Amino acid sequence: MDFIGHHVLSVDQFARADIERIFQVADEMQPYAERTRITRVLEGAILGNMFFEPSTRTRVSFGCAFNLLGGEVRETTEVKASSLAKGESLYDTARVLSGYSDIIVMRHPEAGSVAEFASASRVPVLNAGDGTNEHPSQALLDLYTIRKELEGQNRSIDGLRIALVGDLKHGRAVHSLCKMLGLFDHVEFNLVSPAELAAPADIVEALVAKGHAVNVWGDLQSGIHHVDIVYVTRTQEERFPSQEEADRYRGLFRLNQAIYTEHCEPNTVIMHPLPRDSRAQAQELDVDLNQNPNLAIFRQTDNGVLVRMALFALILNIADEIHNHARPVTWYTAKRTPRT
Ligand code: CP
Repeated sequence: MDFIGHHVLSVDQFARADIERIFQVADEMQPYAERTRITRVLEGAILGNMFFEPSTRTRVSFGCAFNLLGGEVRETTEVKASSLAKGESLYDTARVLSGYSDIIVMRHPEAGSVAEFASASRVPVLNAGDGTNEHPSQALLDLYTIRKELEGQNRSIDGLRIALVGDLKHGRAVHSLCKMLGLFDHVEFNLVSPAELAAPADIVEALVAKGHAVNVWGDLQSGIHHVDIVYVTRTQEERFPSQEEADRYRGLFRLNQAIYTEHCEPNTVIMHPLPRDSRAQAQELDVDLNQNPNLAIFRQTDNGVLVRMALFALILNIADEIHNHARPVTWYTAKRTPRT
């Protein structure tokens, strides 16, 4: 795809070559993300970071990514703090905010809302999560992480075996990741969920049509055997009609060290888009895994900055300019290794 000036609304926009290009630029972002070098290539540019739904890592990492490239960030963090709460339309909001920004990142609880907003925007818009639909930058950082983890085992994404566990119906990170993995060859998907929270049929059918193996499991232990990656997700309680209904599924699948040791292969990488629900009734990813070297959840969050910097660099057409505006940093920088 031509990145320059374009929206990123769905992973359907990407071909394998596009993903490779994003990852190539992301690799180059490492010294800036780790603050051993500084670049001011986006000096004067403004990001509108519009989050109309709760977020920690997506909002802050998009903001950090833009700052690390030298740009400034303006943000809204909830509907009630914006004039959407007064009945303003997405169209008007987009016309206004795109006059203040060079690029906009947006999260909103309604599926399709970011595309609606983008159609009225005068600047590129990146989808940071629209309801249960998609979360493209999360899928990119997940895939980037998978690639790096497999590189350590001399493996590639082709032939990957992955278990996706939990609320596969509402989990937009899972939807985007499945679609993106569908671009690769001979991927084996173990979909582990209660029947009521199964992955959307259209996503599964598309994977099968492309020749991938899709196995459906109702229990965790069976689904996590013989996989390279186990990708655990939270029950998306905010998508359920009532708290009572969400509570029915919370805590149904819990991965902890004992289950991992008994049922996973020794090199199986553990991932989660985060946040994990660490309340007693949930604990889908137990904190007793925190010292497990195969737990990649904080490598995922670190990689999010690299991938989001790469998206800005490609869309704003400065990927080849970054190093021309760079210099070493002069302040103390904490050592960030080992990155667990
Ligand atoms: N993974 C993710 O989207 O996290 P946040 O909701 O904290 O942004």
